[in-house]
Amino acid sequence: MKKRIFSGIQPTGKVHIGNYLGAIKQWVTNQGDHDNIYCIVDLHAITVPQDPAELKASIRTMAGLLFAAGIDPEQSVLFVQSAIPAHSELAWILNCITPMGWMERMTQFKEKAGKDRERASVGLFDYPALMASDILLYDTHLVPVGEDQKQHLELTRDIAQRFNRQYGETFVVPEPIIPKIAARVMGLDDPTKKMSKSEPGKFHAVYMLDTPDVILKKVKRATTDSLRDIRFDENRPGVFNLLSIYQAFTGETEAEIEAHFAGKGYGDLKKELAEVIIEGLRPIQERYAKFIADPAQLDALLAQSADKVRPIAEATMKRVHQRMGLG
Ligand code: TYM
Repeated sequence: MKKRIFSGIQPTGKVHIGNYLGAIKQWVTNQGDHDNIYCIVDLHAITVPQDPAELKASIRTMAGLLFAAGIDPEQSVLFVQSAIPAHSELAWILNCITPMGWMERMTQFKEKAGKDRERASVGLFDYPALMASDILLYDTHLVPVGEDQKQHLELTRDIAQRFNRQYGETFVVPEPIIPKIAARVMGLDDPTKKMSKSEPGKFHAVYMLDTPDVILKKVKRATTDSLRDIRFDENRPGVFNLLSIYQAFTGETEAEIEAHFAGKGYGDLKKELAEVIIEGLRPIQERYAKFIADPAQLDALLAQSADKVRPIAEATMKRVHQRMGLG
C-alpha cells in the first residue's frame, strides 16, 4: 500500500518562490511513489476578508499554477476544500476536543493578528483546527510543508492522538515532510523575515508569474552584507538566503556552489541567481498560460478530483460519528 500524502495551499495572494521551493516542488517530485491529495484551501482564505470575484479567480489561478508546476492529474488529486463539506464539519468536531490553551500557543495566529487581536476573526484563531481536519479526513501519513507549518502539524498530531485516546483508534497520526533546503525562504528585502504573500514591499518576494526583467530587478535589489566572500553562513542571512534559493533551483551541493562562486562578487551571484530562477520558472509559466486559457477545463479537473476524494472523507466522517455517538 502506498503512503497517503496530503497538503494544502491558500489560493489568495501571489504564489512566491518560497511556496514553490518549500512546498509545491516537493509535491510534484516522486508523485508515483505515494497516493497524493492536494487541496486549494479556500475556507482558510476567508479567515481574512476576501472579495468574492477575486477569490473565485484566484482559485483558478492557483489550480493552473499547480498543474503547470507538475501536479499530474493521473497521479495526484487536486481539489478545492469547500467542495467537500466534511472539512468544516470535522473542524467543528475537533474544536470540541481541542483545549483553548493548545490553540493559544500557535505563533502564526499571533503573527497574523498582530496588535489587532480583538478584531481578528474567530476563524483566523481557529485556522489550525480546520487544517487538522483537512489532514485527518484523508488518513494522511505524510504532509509536505514549509517550516512555518511545523507547529500546526504538531498540533494536528496532538489532536489526533487525543481523539484516538478518548474515542478509540480513529485517525492516522501524520508526520510532516520539511525540505532540507529552502524550508524557510526569506524576504529578499529583509532576510530576517520569512518570504510571505502578505508582505507589501515591492522587492520582498519573487512571484512564480513574475516576468524575467522583474525577477532580475528584484534579485539585484536583494539585501546582502558588507563582506565579500560567497559562503553558506547562517550568520549572514542575506547571502545565505540567496545561496539557498540557488541551491534549491540547481540541486548542486554547498561545496559545488561555493567553488563555483569562489573569487566572484555579489553582483555575479545575483545575476546568476536571477538566471537560475528565470529558467526554473520559464517552463511552468509557459504551461500556466495554456491552462489558464481554458478555465472550463480547469474547473472540470477540480470537480472530478473532488469526486474522487469525497468517499474517503465521507468514510472518515461515518467513523467519527459512530465513535462519538452522533446522529
Ligand atoms: P500557505 O498557503 O501559506 O503556504 C503554502 C505552502 O508554502 C509554504 N511556505 C513556505 N515555504 C518556504 N519558505 C517560505 N517563505 C514559505 N512560505 C510559505 C508553507 O509552509 C506551505 O507548505 N496552512 C497552510 C495551508 C494548509 C495546509 C493544510 C497545509 C491548509 N490545510 C493541510 C498542509 C496540510 C498555509 O497557510 O499554506
